[in-house]
Amino acid sequence: MEKFDLSTAGFDTAFIHAGQHRDKEWGALATPIYQTSTFCYETVEEGQKKIMREIPGYYYSRSGNPTNSVLEEKIAAIEGAEAAVSTASGLGAIGCVMVAFLRAGDHVVCGQCVYGGTNHIMGTNLAQFGIDVTFVDTTKPEEVEAAVRPNTKMLYFETVANPLMTVTDVAAMSKIAKAHGLKMVVDSTFTPPPILFAVKLGADIVVHSLTKYYNGHGDVIGGVAVGSKEDMDKVRNSAMTRFCGTALAPFNAYLVIRSMKTMGMRVRQHCANAMVMARYLEASPFVERVYYAGLESHPQHALAASQMQEGLFTGMISFELKDGINGLSAYDAGAKLLNNLGLAQIAVSLGDPDTLIEHPASMTHARVSKEDKEKAGISDGLIRLSVGLENVEDLIRDFEQAFAAL
Ligand SMILES: Cc1ncc(COP(=O)(O)O)c(C=O)c1O
Repeated sequence: MEKFDLSTAGFDTAFIHAGQHRDKEWGALATPIYQTSTFCYETVEEGQKKIMREIPGYYYSRSGNPTNSVLEEKIAAIEGAEAAVSTASGLGAIGCVMVAFLRAGDHVVCGQCVYGGTNHIMGTNLAQFGIDVTFVDTTKPEEVEAAVRPNTKMLYFETVANPLMTVTDVAAMSKIAKAHGLKMVVDSTFTPPPILFAVKLGADIVVHSLTKYYNGHGDVIGGVAVGSKEDMDKVRNSAMTRFCGTALAPFNAYLVIRSMKTMGMRVRQHCANAMVMARYLEASPFVERVYYAGLESHPQHALAASQMQEGLFTGMISFELKDGINGLSAYDAGAKLLNNLGLAQIAVSLGDPDTLIEHPASMTHARVSKEDKEKAGISDGLIRLSVGLENVEDLIRDFEQAFAAL
């Protein structure tokens, strides 16, 4: 695309063209899949230079692969970052960032409402390596400030937190992180482009589960970290390549590249459907409370509207049913509702074309301790909905029949 300056292009153009270079051998339009574990050299000298990174090239797909490079360049361009490192899963990206930047004796300040797997890494795995973690409510800057210690090295949180949809002010957190010299790592999985650009709001490193909206078709597990070239070199060289070995398979990189071409349209439609579903649930006599940043009733609605773009929020909603519907507890009513649904599938994960519904306390957050769940406000009656791309009238019809059968 050398004849066109992509840095001035709109997001939908960039989703399609960024990172793509004309295939020099045959001119293939789609990115070729370099399904190879290793790469061959003409001479020993060439091999040594490539392995020592003295000349560009590839030597082994755990350390880098041309298909993965296209994906990384595309994502970095979209996120407004210098570089990206793709990984085998979202948690792989989070783990690599931890290994690259934390050492024994360090301390991390982490949002108290985060994905269950992240909570596990923070609360269990980091402790094994002598790293302390304090969980705080990152919607309250004063709590974050108070938790910082002399040995604090990292501030970690989710833009829209899984599963309670609390919204953290990324720019305000960045000010605190900069004042204390902390590496700020933001998980923006629930707010992918074109919704929110955390690097532009001051994050040092942004992680995404590519499994979710980036790939968006429910057929890939993948992750990515984006940030400065210096930080990404550390993630790639000290963590992924030499220690964790969490390379993304080239075939999966290809699938995400293909999916990203329609990402703008998909994400906008997920958000539009979610807004309709959130309003429908909020008006339902069966529902006690809806957590959705796009609703005026959400405590951080104004913040969400100002830091998210194009009037988009997310495709994710959580809600609680009323206690006592037909004599059922909120938990039992929730389980019955999920079992009654026909279109919405009972499954973890999110950001797929298919609407997915789950029960965080027993599914995505099952490993989070009862105490941590209570502290984060994850009740037994909470239900999480990933609104898909079906006709939204059909989703409402599905919920109508499921509520009626409670
Ligand atoms: C917010 C968030 N971050 C990270 C992850 C982990 O991603 P993956 O399942 O690709 O490892 C998830 C998974 O659900 C998530 O919801």
